[in-house]
Amino acid sequence: MKRMPCPGLTQRELYLGSIVNVHARQLKLVDYGDLFTRNKFEAQAGRTFALIKPDCYIQTGKIVDAIYKNGFSISKLKMSKFTKPSQADDFYEKHKGAPFFADLTTYMQSDVVTGVELVSPNAIECLRSVLGPTDSAEAKRDAPGSLRAHFGTDVMRNAVHASASSADYQRELGIFFSPQFGPTAAFNNCTCCIIKPHVVQDGLAGQVIDAILQEGFEISSMQMFTLDKPTAEEFFEVYKGVLPEFVGMIEAMTIGPCIVMEVRQENAVESFRQFVGPMDPEIAKNLRPNTLRAKFGHTRTNNGVHCTDLPEDGPLEVEYFFSIQ
Ligand code: CMP
Repeated sequence: MKRMPCPGLTQRELYLGSIVNVHARQLKLVDYGDLFTRNKFEAQAGRTFALIKPDCYIQTGKIVDAIYKNGFSISKLKMSKFTKPSQADDFYEKHKGAPFFADLTTYMQSDVVTGVELVSPNAIECLRSVLGPTDSAEAKRDAPGSLRAHFGTDVMRNAVHASASSADYQRELGIFFSPQFGPTAAFNNCTCCIIKPHVVQDGLAGQVIDAILQEGFEISSMQMFTLDKPTAEEFFEVYKGVLPEFVGMIEAMTIGPCIVMEVRQENAVESFRQFVGPMDPEIAKNLRPNTLRAKFGHTRTNNGVHCTDLPEDGPLEVEYFFSIQ
């Protein structure tokens, strides 16, 4: 391939396993081109696993935002739940025998958790320093800028778990991203929200999640997906021949990962559509400046988020991602 500029693609997205869009072609990065590239990139491609703990559900957006602001890329994200005691026992196997083990495993089953795979140079050490000491009281005292100082409560409820070593990362990631940790979608009273790839690429997904939660909506399921063209075309089929920018809209949905959510509330589709705002961000900025599209949209295709249009389609769109895929 001839050397050429690739607008929109940033170094942050260049890690093994990443799916990138180069001149309208979706490519998966499977290996390095040569030794020089391997040496350059491996140094910056450390990985770790983090888990946002049950009592911090409402802080999920702020924590994801802080993760981005500290220079990490998120390559995997999934909300799930420890539904069986054996799952929590297995995940925290190395603490078996500790006096706090029973309390810890019970607490971890108390509500949904969100797991993320993070990519950055020295990811394991970096994340541990961003989180601060295990004990939130110590974090508040000795590392007041750390995430556990901000969001932790005590030594057990310390906001976020992080892998302690490379072996722990492999093990914990394997457990959490296995099918035994299923989606938490309810498929009723719901609408489907997709944080579009341009927002994820700009590191702003945490801010969208936070805005949704602060508005009082429940995010009952959430996962990062990378859509290929046929999948995006199938999901958005109703707009084919209706929206003049259909092709651009599909392109915008496939340039990188998106984050899909089941959002719940009374009258979910209609109330969430009001919060998302008009399709055109220019109109949204002028008429509805507090809406998501006014804040996160750029153009009619890169308009920040997708949301379900018709009430009867809410559960169907959610099922497309969390039940059928
Ligand atoms: P985490 O990073 O998830 O790894 C193990 C967890 O055990 C730790 O964070 C805390 O939630 C919990 N933990 C560690 N030490 C104690 C303790 N002394 N008392 C209660 N819980 C603890």
